Amino acid sequence: MGISLLFSEKEGYFLTAEDSLYIHHLHRGKGIGKTLLKFLIEKAKENKIKNIIAKICAENQPSLNLHKSLGFAEVGKLCQVGYKFGRYLDVVIL
Ligand SMILES: CC(C)(COP(=O)(O)OP(=O)(O)OC[C@H]1O[C@@H](n2cnc3c(N)ncnc32)[C@H](O)[C@@H]1OP(=O)(O)O)[C@@H](O)C(=O)NCCC(=O)NCCS
Repeated sequence: MGISLLFSEKEGYFLTAEDSLYIHHLHRGKGIGKTLLKFLIEKAKENKIKNIIAKICAENQPSLNLHKSLGFAEVGKLCQVGYKFGRYLDVVIL
């Protein structure tokens, strides 16, 4: 399991966070990701964070579904910015 909540170290972005969630493959699909993301959202609210940004590989349907189920909305796409396993990957910004 891994989580983070840093968007930028630049001072002007202190009210914006970025999330990144990783659940061990043996424990996916059990509700842990959703529980953690809800917790992060609550913590962000408590700390007056205005926006949480997620950058998710366009092919990562589980993570896209998870974020959208908790109110995240697609605002853009970075085309071919990732490169894995011999091909370029798009990244969706929510
Ligand atoms: C994306 C990830 C964090 C989700 O965590 P999880 O504990 O498996 O997810 P949950 O069991 O809490 O499911 C939450 C929601 O995610 C979506 N989801 C989960 N698994 C899914 C799957 N196999 N297919 C489609 N949607 C899925 C569903 O919307 C689900 O909500 P629902 O059960 O109410 O329908 C996890 O799959 C993961 O670690 N993936 C690899 C790392 C990664 O890609 N991280 C994203 C970087 S931003």
